[in-house]
Amino acid sequence: MSGADRAKQAAAEAAARLVESGMRVGIGSGSTVRHLILALGRRVRAQGLRLVGIPTSTETEALALTQGITLAEPDGTPLDLAIDGADEVERGTLRLIKGLGGALLREKIVAEAARRFVVIADASKMVETLGERAPLPVEVVRFGHAATAQRIAVLGGRPVLRRAQGEAPFITDGGNVIYDCPGFAPIRDPFTLARDLRAIAGVVETGLFPSHAECALIGTADGAVTELERPA
Ligand code: A5P
Repeated sequence: MSGADRAKQAAAEAAARLVESGMRVGIGSGSTVRHLILALGRRVRAQGLRLVGIPTSTETEALALTQGITLAEPDGTPLDLAIDGADEVERGTLRLIKGLGGALLREKIVAEAARRFVVIADASKMVETLGERAPLPVEVVRFGHAATAQRIAVLGGRPVLRRAQGEAPFITDGGNVIYDCPGFAPIRDPFTLARDLRAIAGVVETGLFPSHAECALIGTADGAVTELERPA
């Protein structure tokens, strides 16, 4: 296992310990969350942990089912907890960029349905200002997406259509495309940027999570985990 993977696993296992029997828990997507699902599966088998997981992607859903985790969709009942990875975590504020895995829309729906949102990541995801290491993903409806991208470009985003294998566009679980936008960096005011992007017809959602995470569990390769709380 690589150092980065050990760091992800440490953060994920710390988050798995936050889950108590009877909880409804949002389960994010990505390689860090993969460790979370495996850790939860071990607790289900060894300790009889009972939880209802709300998965944020078809990939998460498939893995969670192999681990014996009962699943449901968000139905308006608040979730006790949501746990997810991130592509960037801003030091001090816990503002996030998410969506390099393509699941940002469901991830945001689930994060907003939760009473508490905990982000798990390895230390390489920490940045001083959003946009330092990741382009901002913006999910766009397929109809007229090139025209929508032009309007994103006017805001300065330098949008690049995400591709799957070959030339075909990557299609999200919601049936949309994603434009990765490196041009917004450094993102000093994610609230205004999110508002301006969402005002463009055709934009479904952005990978900006400016006020969702209350806590971050940051792992390092030696297995240590630092807990960071969002300032009040
Ligand atoms: C998925 O759409 C993303 O938001 C992931 O949460 C993010 O990409 C983190 O993934 P890793 O844990 O694989 O880095």
